[in-house]
Amino acid sequence: MKDLFGKALQDFNNNNYTEDLITSTNISGEDELPLPYLFRSYSEMPKLEQKALQLVKGNVLDVGCGSGSHSLYLQDKGIRVKAIDVSEGAVAVAKKRGVKTVERKDLLEETETFDTILLLMNGTGIFQEVSQVSKYLNHLKSLLKPKGQILIDSSDIQYMYEDDDGGLWIDTNANYYGELDYFLSYKGEKEEPMKWLYIDFERLQFACEAVGLHCKKILDGEHFDFLVRIVVQEL
Ligand SMILES: C[S@@+](CC[C@H](N)C(=O)[O-])C[C@H]1O[C@@H](n2cnc3c(N)ncnc32)[C@H](O)[C@@H]1O
Repeated sequence: MKDLFGKALQDFNNNNYTEDLITSTNISGEDELPLPYLFRSYSEMPKLEQKALQLVKGNVLDVGCGSGSHSLYLQDKGIRVKAIDVSEGAVAVAKKRGVKTVERKDLLEETETFDTILLLMNGTGIFQEVSQVSKYLNHLKSLLKPKGQILIDSSDIQYMYEDDDGGLWIDTNANYYGELDYFLSYKGEKEEPMKWLYIDFERLQFACEAVGLHCKKILDGEHFDFLVRIVVQEL
């Protein structure tokens, strides 16, 4: 990984903001991801994220913390937060911005336990593909304290397959429609392609039930996105 995402965060944080990140996927063309969005304050966050932050209790793990916006908000409220990210640049920026506990770490390498685990900005993307969802959910479950919760957002991207007449062009022989190849470039350099998973609520709920977790929808967003709260199923 070239860590272009981390480089962009570092540039912005060092007052070297000249360009945005460019994203595209196997089913969509180029889009700009404005760097200021990755440094959003609470009032600039979408309702789903604000709601997730309101529901936080106990000590928190912020998975894929990016520049640390959610961690900083919680920390300022006196909440104990540990932030992790695989991006070296992101971790450096989160530290510089004042997140007290931040580590460069893959979610699957985390071993501490938490009352709340946050995965925000299409948190299910980190699972990469449907075949890995149960592995990630089982791991997240192992990181939960008794009565702990996972707050995660996703989107049902079926709308991206609709043509102008409202018809769908999903290839039913292909992989799940929410499994995307995700391409990122920054200042003319291309990142290695990544896999990114958008999962619909029913499929996520089904996957949760299969590993002894209960998944409840908390809020629908403005554009096919939604926030869920996942807890261990009571026997
Ligand atoms: C879409 S960004 C979201 C950043 C931040 N949560 C926000 O809302 O601004 C996803 C983040 O997850 C990180 N990430 C991806 N896979 C990860 C993994 N397996 N473990 C930890 N972090 C991961 C990426 O480096 C990136 O910073």
